[in-house]
Amino acid sequence: MDAKRICRLAGVEEDRLILLEETESTNDTAKALARQGAPHGTAVLALRQTAGRGRLGRSFLSPAGGIYLSLILRPSFTAQELMPLTALLAACAARAVEEVSNILPQFKWVNDLLLGDKKLAGILTEPAFKGDGTLDFVICGIGLNCNTDPCEFQEEVQAMATSLKAFTGREQDMERLVSALIRHLPQACVREEKAKLLDFYRAHCVTLGKPVRVMGGEVYTATALDVDENAALIVRDEQGELHTVSAGEVSVRGLYGYA
Ligand code: BTN
Repeated sequence: MDAKRICRLAGVEEDRLILLEETESTNDTAKALARQGAPHGTAVLALRQTAGRGRLGRSFLSPAGGIYLSLILRPSFTAQELMPLTALLAACAARAVEEVSNILPQFKWVNDLLLGDKKLAGILTEPAFKGDGTLDFVICGIGLNCNTDPCEFQEEVQAMATSLKAFTGREQDMERLVSALIRHLPQACVREEKAKLLDFYRAHCVTLGKPVRVMGGEVYTATALDVDENAALIVRDEQGELHTVSAGEVSVRGLYGYA
């Protein structure tokens, strides 16, 4: 990977991208840099991760061919404004993928990008707060299977995951895609973009209208109805009661093995 080309295409200074052959987790590297004062928009990119992390404490397999990118973001957001950030970042990531490959991924609430019924990418957002409780920075980590060969995935992951290369049958320009992500992702912090990005997210969210299983507390089945302004999922359970789901896992029937 050519860091200079990525920065040129992204329109950022060369010191804004740290490119690593391998690291445990780019989110952790970015967090350490943010604590040392690295500015908004600084990006950490690794060719492989040895301890990639996903949402809900899961590990994120990170073989060569994927994009493992973490951005330091320093929006002056309140706790309320932070709530929809993962969905807004997913929307920005999808726009970056579309710009480079002409293929628009869909969303599985809240942080998965899909191609067909398989996972292309996941987003892990980790905020850090100052002593007075205000937001210090947010690390936005994205793992995207770009030119990954599906045989690199563990057997149980193969049925659920795809890569851009596997989906299109063509090797993709990873440097262009990284540069597009570096340009698009910070848009999630622009207040004026929020309504438009959330509408885009809703329009392409495969979870909506589907039967879902809500987990991570009380487990129940429901129908997903809408995504609200905090990017929480509104569901109706079998008794007709409405719930607002803002954390935990929601599996969608027909996706990733929820029969
Ligand atoms: C998920 O699917 O649950 C989120 C996966 C996020 C993975 C990315 S890869 C870059 C960054 N570093 C990590 O350790 N995790 C994120």
